[in-house]
Amino acid sequence: MRLQNVVQKIEPILTRLYYRLSYPSSPNLRGDRDIEYSWIAANLPKDPGRALDFGCGTSYLALIAAQRGFETTAIDLIPVRWFYIHPKLNFIQNDIFDSGFAPETFDLIINCSSIEHVGLVGRYNVKQSRPDGDIEAMAEMEKLLKPEGRMLLTIPVGQDTVFPSLHRVYGKRRLPSLLDGYIIEKEEYWIKNDRNQWILTEKSKALDLEPNRNFYGLGCFVLQAKK
Ligand SMILES: C[S@@+](CC[C@H](N)C(=O)[O-])C[C@H]1O[C@@H](n2cnc3c(N)ncnc32)[C@H](O)[C@@H]1O
Repeated sequence: MRLQNVVQKIEPILTRLYYRLSYPSSPNLRGDRDIEYSWIAANLPKDPGRALDFGCGTSYLALIAAQRGFETTAIDLIPVRWFYIHPKLNFIQNDIFDSGFAPETFDLIINCSSIEHVGLVGRYNVKQSRPDGDIEAMAEMEKLLKPEGRMLLTIPVGQDTVFPSLHRVYGKRRLPSLLDGYIIEKEEYWIKNDRNQWILTEKSKALDLEPNRNFYGLGCFVLQAKK
């Protein structure tokens, strides 16, 4: 059988398999970054300045900020190499607690799906356990923001839980502590419907969701430092 015929035969099988995995009977996180990245792109401040992408990983969020004209620094504990370079974008491999940035340096801090990992040993090169590392890192970044600056934050939400080495999930108890030090300018919550599609929901419903290791709700915030 020619290769083309083989491909034609297996393609519908692979498509069915893809949809079965993508839309299982119980919800999973699939599509989470679509929500988070689009939220961040949609809420970038109009006027460029200096930006920090905290816990950038291999995402292209720092590139978006650089393309919008921000002088952008991306920071991560792990080494990161992108498939591009940009004159307004630089990367430093460092811990946010040792960054050495001067206070009130940044007009924008992007904090996408990273804060929930801070201080949880066993993933991402985290060596030192810090049970409150997330709250401490938020305080650190509050100092780094200019008074008129904004943080764009996305996090897992649901009933308060820590899944050791994986991530924290923020609920009625820990969410206020995490955001202490910031004014909430805008907030949005997402959960999944019974077809495994992300939908907007009320805060109370999102924080009541029972998370598991593979699923939680999403909280998206525009924050300003209280100073
Ligand atoms: C789930 S990844 C998110 C990556 C990216 N923001 C995205 O949206 O795809 C979390 C990142 O946070 C980084 N991270 C965790 N603790 C950190 C710390 N104390 N300082 C700098 N980066 C940290 C990890 O190394 C990891 O790359």
